[in-house]
This record gives sequence, structure tokens and C-alpha cells, in this order.
Amino acid sequence: MKRIGVLTSGGDAPGMNAAVRAVTRAALGKGYEVVGIQRGYNGLLNGETINLGARDVSNIIHHGGTMLYTARCKEFKDWEYVEKAKARCDELGLVGIVVIGGDGSFRGAADLSKAGVPCIGIPGTIDNDISCTDYTIGYDTAMNTAMEMVDKLRDTAMSHDRCSIVEVMGRNAGWIALNVGTAVGAMAIITQEVPYSIDDIIAKMEASKKDKKQHFIILVSEGVGNSEALAKEIEAKTGIESRATILGHVQRGGSPTVRDRVAASEMGYYAVNLLDQGIGNRVVAMRDNKIVDFDIKEALSMKKPFDENLYKIANEISF
Ligand code: ADP
Ligand code: F6P
Repeated sequence: MKRIGVLTSGGDAPGMNAAVRAVTRAALGKGYEVVGIQRGYNGLLNGETINLGARDVSNIIHHGGTMLYTARCKEFKDWEYVEKAKARCDELGLVGIVVIGGDGSFRGAADLSKAGVPCIGIPGTIDNDISCTDYTIGYDTAMNTAMEMVDKLRDTAMSHDRCSIVEVMGRNAGWIALNVGTAVGAMAIITQEVPYSIDDIIAKMEASKKDKKQHFIILVSEGVGNSEALAKEIEAKTGIESRATILGHVQRGGSPTVRDRVAASEMGYYAVNLLDQGIGNRVVAMRDNKIVDFDIKEALSMKKPFDENLYKIANEISF
């Protein structure tokens, strides 16, 4: 019997379950057996696997998190462990593995492909920080969660005439901050991609205050951080009471949006088609709303330009 494996790795993201479902159902439809590998590459090394039948992936499309669990596996960076994983794949009779995760997980998938196990990566991370793809599974849900949280913070900031500084996730990329900041009409968006000046932001706040603006929202990306210190600085320099809120892991949970469920379904289906053609060492990506694929190493070397135009627009319409 031909078998395909599927695993989730790195930080979880809403929509990973929808991707697991799509991979499973697409593979079953082509006559494969499906092996769910638990806790990322750890589960592959330790033999933590479950068989996935059609009903095992019922009722998960709308759930956040990942039914396969996820983990980070430091050992996988050593070739010795990649070879152990290859031996495990041979024992399991896997013709290939679909790896749902981020750049780190794709590096592992490239190594495992090199060792002789064809792997296909599917971009799953809330950060949208994978260069080869316009979109990563989980991004839309995370942004909507963050936007709802900021809407709630606005109620209290408005009631107290305060400045609310909100830190959103994105250690290496400011995509969530940029889009959520635009969506909530933030006074300023601070990300690692664009140089900023706190004094300029303060001057903008002062000018708006003179024009009767009474409360303020500032979005800060995790990669910039220091939101508590920023709140203190703004309060000291403007006299506007300021509070920092770090949204944190709440952004990683919750039921995936339509966009995430659809992207996960399309990408999962596409990944299985590649493996079925005997193709490995590829990453599935979305480019201009089309699903395409790239060589993993090539994908990892790509650069994604930050949307400076959106950044400019957001800034120019908030005062
Ligand atoms: P993400 O996939 O979200 O970027 P990580 O960077 O934490 O998350 O990577 C997830 C896992 O992928 C790591 O715990 C490790 O098992 C594997 N991995 C990361 N980097 C490499 C690498 N250079 N070589 C092989 N495997 C890697
Ligand atoms: O990559 C997704 C992400 O949520 C980042 O935005 C964040 O920096 C990181 O994962 C947090 O990881 P952990 O789960 O280890 O706290």
C-alpha cells in the first residue's frame, strides 16, 4: 500500500487542521494510506504516528490549533537525525511527507528530501513571513483576532482619553502590525521594516490633539517590542495617559476564517498532487491568487518586499 505522511511543525496557525484534512482526503482519494505524524519532526524520530482515515479528519476544518500537535525539534538540524528520520520513513513505507509550517520547517523538509524522502512544504504561520508566497495559512485569522482585540481596546482608550499601544505578533515581520494598524486606523504603525522616529509620532499626536483628537492607537510589531517603555515615553512627553497591551498567543488561536480554510484546502490538495507525480523538495505557494510551487532552497532564498505603499497610505490617512 502506498503511504503519505503529514505533519505540522513550528508555531501552530489557524487553518493547519483544514490543511491536514485536505492532505488526508486528497491522498485517500488517490488511493494512498495516510499517516499523521505527531509533534512535528519529533514524532517522526520517536515514531509517534496515527493512521488517518476519512472520518479521523472530520469535524476539524473549523478548529484552530493542530490535531497533529506541533513542536520544535532541535536535533533535526543535525544530519544524523535526518538520516534516522529517513530510516523511520522507510519503516513506515512513506512515499513522501507533507510538512505544514514555516521557513524552519521547510529547511527540515529540504534536508529530508535530500536524504531520499520527497517532502512538500505548505506555508502555515500567522506571520506571513515566508517570502515565496503572498499568503500563509493562519495570517487572516490572526489579523482578524488582533483587529477585534484592538477594537475592544479602543473602547477603553476612548473612554479614558488615553493612548493604547498594542503589540502584535511578528518576531521577524511586521505584516500583522501593518494590516491590523491600517484596519483599526492606528495613529502610527511601528515595524522593523520601516525606520521610525518616536519624536515624529509624538509631534503627530500633539498636532491631532490640538485638532480635538482625544484618544490614540499605536500598533507595534513584536520584532520592535518595548511597548511598555514606549507607553511611558509617550505619557511623559505628551501628558496623555498611555497603556501598553501585548496581545500575545491569543492571536494564534481560534476558528480559522474563510480565507484560511480555503487556502489550506487548495494548498493541501496541490501538495498531494505533487507527491503523487513523484515530485518532492518543493514548497506550495500562493502568487497572485494562484497556487504554484517552488524548489525549497530557491523559496528560502527569496525576499518579500514590505508593502511600503500600504504603510504610507495608513500613515497619511491617520491624523
Ligand atoms: P517555523 O517552521 O515556524 O519557521 P522553526 O523555525 O521553529 O519554525 O522550525 C521548526 C522546526 O523545523 C525546528 O524545530 C526544526 O525541527 C526544523 N528546522 C528548523 N531549522 C532547520 C534547519 N536549518 N535544518 C533542519 N531542520 C530545521
Ligand atoms: O511564528 C509565529 C509566532 O507566533 C511569532 O509571531 C512569534 O514570535 C513566535 O511564533 C512565538 O513563538 P512561541 O510559540 O515559541 O512563543
